[in-house]
Amino acid sequence: MKITAKELRQKWFDFYKSKQHAIIRSSSLIPENDPTVLFTTAGMHPLVPYLMGAKHPAGKRLANVQKCVRTGDIDDVGDNSHCTFFEMLGNWSLGDYFKKEQIEWSYEFLTSKKYLGIPKTRLAVSVFEGDSDCPRDEESAGYWLKCGIPKERIFYLPKANNWWGPAGTTGPCGPDTEMFYVSTAPDCSPKCSPACDCGKYLEIWNDVFMEYNKTADGKYEQLKQKNVDTGMGLERTLVVLNGKKSVYDTDLFVPIISKIEELSGKKYNSKDASRPMRIIADHIRTAVFMLGDDRGITPSNVDQGYVLRRLIRRAIRYAKALDLEQGAVVKIAQAVIDVYKDVYKEIADNSQLIIAELTKEEERFEKTLKAGLKEFDKLVGYIQNGIISGKACFKLYDTYGFPIEMTEELAIERGLKINRDDFDKAYAEHQAKSQAGAQAKFKGGLADNTEATARLHTATHLMHKALKQVLTDKVAQRGSNITEERLRFDFSFDRKVEDAELREVEKIVNQAIEANVQVVCTEMTVDEAKQKGAIGLFESKYGEKVKVYSMDKYSIEICGGPHANKTGELGKFVITKEESSSAGVRRIKAVLK
Ligand code: ALA
Repeated sequence: MKITAKELRQKWFDFYKSKQHAIIRSSSLIPENDPTVLFTTAGMHPLVPYLMGAKHPAGKRLANVQKCVRTGDIDDVGDNSHCTFFEMLGNWSLGDYFKKEQIEWSYEFLTSKKYLGIPKTRLAVSVFEGDSDCPRDEESAGYWLKCGIPKERIFYLPKANNWWGPAGTTGPCGPDTEMFYVSTAPDCSPKCSPACDCGKYLEIWNDVFMEYNKTADGKYEQLKQKNVDTGMGLERTLVVLNGKKSVYDTDLFVPIISKIEELSGKKYNSKDASRPMRIIADHIRTAVFMLGDDRGITPSNVDQGYVLRRLIRRAIRYAKALDLEQGAVVKIAQAVIDVYKDVYKEIADNSQLIIAELTKEEERFEKTLKAGLKEFDKLVGYIQNGIISGKACFKLYDTYGFPIEMTEELAIERGLKINRDDFDKAYAEHQAKSQAGAQAKFKGGLADNTEATARLHTATHLMHKALKQVLTDKVAQRGSNITEERLRFDFSFDRKVEDAELREVEKIVNQAIEANVQVVCTEMTVDEAKQKGAIGLFESKYGEKVKVYSMDKYSIEICGGPHANKTGELGKFVITKEESSSAGVRRIKAVLK
């Protein structure tokens, strides 16, 4: 290894310290006050208020390494580059320096022998070509030319390539300039450029010039201040600097993969082993960071907890494909902890909790899986046209708690398809039929003990809408936490909610409950959901399409579920507490009696 992860992080800190930056800690993986995304996806994310103009306590020049999670490409994990967790090296100017300094420093960090020492002949850059929102970035191109990057390796590209942000749907964003390592691969065509993904140009760093705020109506207005936001993927840069093929060959993954080899007795390079090993290593690494986070989450059936559960269960499934025994993922997690415990204190501090939670989840899943897999294999024996019927998928879900995503993946592995539309129909029919039979739906697996939480989840949607009606349409969700006993809902609103208003909210929710309307789940794109007036998290969470839950005229909201079948199942809705949560954010607790 020419350069290790530890050395790269250190060089980053040393460099930015020498440029008078304060080194700040990585923020939590769980965004604090941002309902538009489930996880921190970039280093700028926790800094949004400061990019918008608030004063940061550490000053106007900041640098750090931020833990990030992106699960949008989960199906690509296992190739050379995709990971669900990664570390992003970042630096920021909050209304301080701008393009000139940032480009000169980027060039210095990349090429100076003291830092990365990349020969300048191996570098290419791209800049924004300009459009009606923002002019062509000749200024940045000019600084690159002065640094010594020749004209032919400065590419002008459109918004799709050279624009970053916002992290959610609104907020700070701007044109960027990206830096690439030029590999020795030949041009893929006369038009070969950093815009194609033929592999000739490997992106290593992105400098964003954040001077715009994207508003809810899609306009770009000037921010109060001009900021710099940069991001360099740690894993990816290690690949380039060490001349490796894959992130899994870096020193962050080698000990984890070795552990899997040792436990399985299989070689990473042997046929059929490398992909499952990469998936297990990736998913367990992400799970360790989620469980060990300061604002740590545990596996559940909603929001972040659902993503975590899916990662752990998917890892276990691939562990089984390698004939690993129960308990193996916990041992692999220990290897992950060993790689990171000296870098992230929370991982060291929470190591016991991480191991305990993983052990519990593995046990829970083991039960589900035993019954479900057997049934799946039986089922496959009857398949004639290569398609597993929606009814059969539904049975697996209903009786064995087998997540539909898992049935789908198993089917693909065996060269089969599932009839997803029919599954959705069977699911909806079942909901309609079994008002009283909600228990059956929640039997086992993914849906353990969620009948009560599902009802509270449904009540949360109704209350969210009612709050908008009674207070103002500007009320926006800031956080939601549901246990089996109560719901807790944080929302933006800048004064106490009066008693009379709380009673009015209760009344509206209880009317919706009395109306006993069907809770209907439909899948659609985010744009379609917006057109229908849905509220909620406007970022596609688990892929292109989102689930939208509607309850007649009472509510329509983007959400991962699960929910009650009909509002009549909820009982009586009572608000038990209203208090301040933080500046401009109120918190309500409520129960169903
Ligand atoms: N926010 C920019 C990115 O994530 C730096 O690429």
